Amino acid sequence: SSARIRLEDPLALLKDELGSLRHNITSLLGSKHPALDTIAKYYFQAEGKHVRPMVVLLMSQATNGLSPRWTDVELRERGREQDRREGKGRGVDEPLEQEDVLNDDNPSMMQRAKDLLSNPLSILSSSPSSSASSSSSTDSSLNLLPTQRRLAEITELIHVASLLHDDVIDLAETRRSAPSAPSLFGNKLSILAGDFLLARASLALSRLGSNEVVELVASVLANLVEGEVMQMKGNMPNRATPMSPRTASSSLAATDPSAVAAASLSGNGPTPAIFEHYMRKTYLKTASLIAKSARATTVLGGCGALQGWKEGERVKDAAYEYGRNLGMAFQLIDDMLDFTASAAELGKPGGGADLKLGLATAPALYAWDEFPELGELIERKFEREGDVERAKDLILRSSGATRTFDLAAAHSQAAIEALHRLPESDARDALEKIASDVLTRKK
Ligand code: FPP
Ligand code: MG
Ligand code: MG
Repeated sequence: SSARIRLEDPLALLKDELGSLRHNITSLLGSKHPALDTIAKYYFQAEGKHVRPMVVLLMSQATNGLSPRWTDVELRERGREQDRREGKGRGVDEPLEQEDVLNDDNPSMMQRAKDLLSNPLSILSSSPSSSASSSSSTDSSLNLLPTQRRLAEITELIHVASLLHDDVIDLAETRRSAPSAPSLFGNKLSILAGDFLLARASLALSRLGSNEVVELVASVLANLVEGEVMQMKGNMPNRATPMSPRTASSSLAATDPSAVAAASLSGNGPTPAIFEHYMRKTYLKTASLIAKSARATTVLGGCGALQGWKEGERVKDAAYEYGRNLGMAFQLIDDMLDFTASAAELGKPGGGADLKLGLATAPALYAWDEFPELGELIERKFEREGDVERAKDLILRSSGATRTFDLAAAHSQAAIEALHRLPESDARDALEKIASDVLTRKK
């Protein structure tokens, strides 16, 4: 197997795929109401990292063909496409129940919406610009099922829906190096647009024809909300009544990088239970979507509940473990960058923005481990005059950022180990590259 030639840049495999992803998402989001149409598509105008869809697409390629049922799955999907072409059925690519994209009873509104869509920042000035025309979708020769492509699009819809809501909650003024949706369109429309994205994602999900996949993705939606509420309410175990090591039982395996990290705290700062609360929240708000969609795509590829084929569970679990660990690493780096990078570098609020929201993320918890006086500030959510600056100073003097990076690196390594339970392939190389690149990302 060492004879296999590794591609220089395995991620280049995805170039065409990501182009059609953007095109398809735009067509999933058409609404006849110009305001809704514009805001729903707004965050897709800027260049996102597309981590979630990339993971879905590559995990599909890395696992397709492993199931003994693969040929049936493929034939069934191609057959559905054939039926659709002949007008006999509702294939996965069939237009969703949606009205015309724009309401043409009102030509000036229509032009305004089109202008805004092609140049969202034009809302800030009055200069109109020409409307953009979309490119047509390309049919790539990659080994992907139509349902897997659609699942990749669904993950991005869900992610962006959560960002629309998140930017309302976090009072964020910028996102993807441009004004945030709430700052341009207001909170009410931003929330409704997020809901609209979820609605269209649900429609698309129903077309995939797999209850196992619906269940996975629906549980992600609940997880996102649970993670956000956990962060907001911080039902953090009280420091005054620390849990004994016995009662502070963790749902994580003792060898999980986060469990190891929680167990290695000095005892002068956060308890293991407080650290695990943070890690659990991180799983729910970030890792769950990546983990469960990676698992879901192996289900679409025929690794779903299959009696007598034990290997299917192993493939699904490897995909899930890869996604979970990648997601943990991704959010840990995000929380580190909030301290170590500026808003200009990030294209969104930075420079300790989480502290201003009252949030103590990994760098703050690790700093607390070294400077016990930080505990008080964390407990009162940096509310008092000067708290944010004092906390930032202590955190930057501590090894909080370094320890956060090290924990992210351990999760990245665990993601790669999960990947190695799958057979070698170019797609696996690309997934490995994503897991190592996550550590050096700058935004
Ligand atoms: C970004 O985190 C936000 C999330 C990862 C999830 C937010 C989830 C919700 C608002 C719940 C609603 C869910 C749905 C499905 C609509 P961040 O604020 O730490 O990152 P940022 O710096 O990019 O803003
Ligand atoms: Mg947030
Ligand atoms: Mg935010």
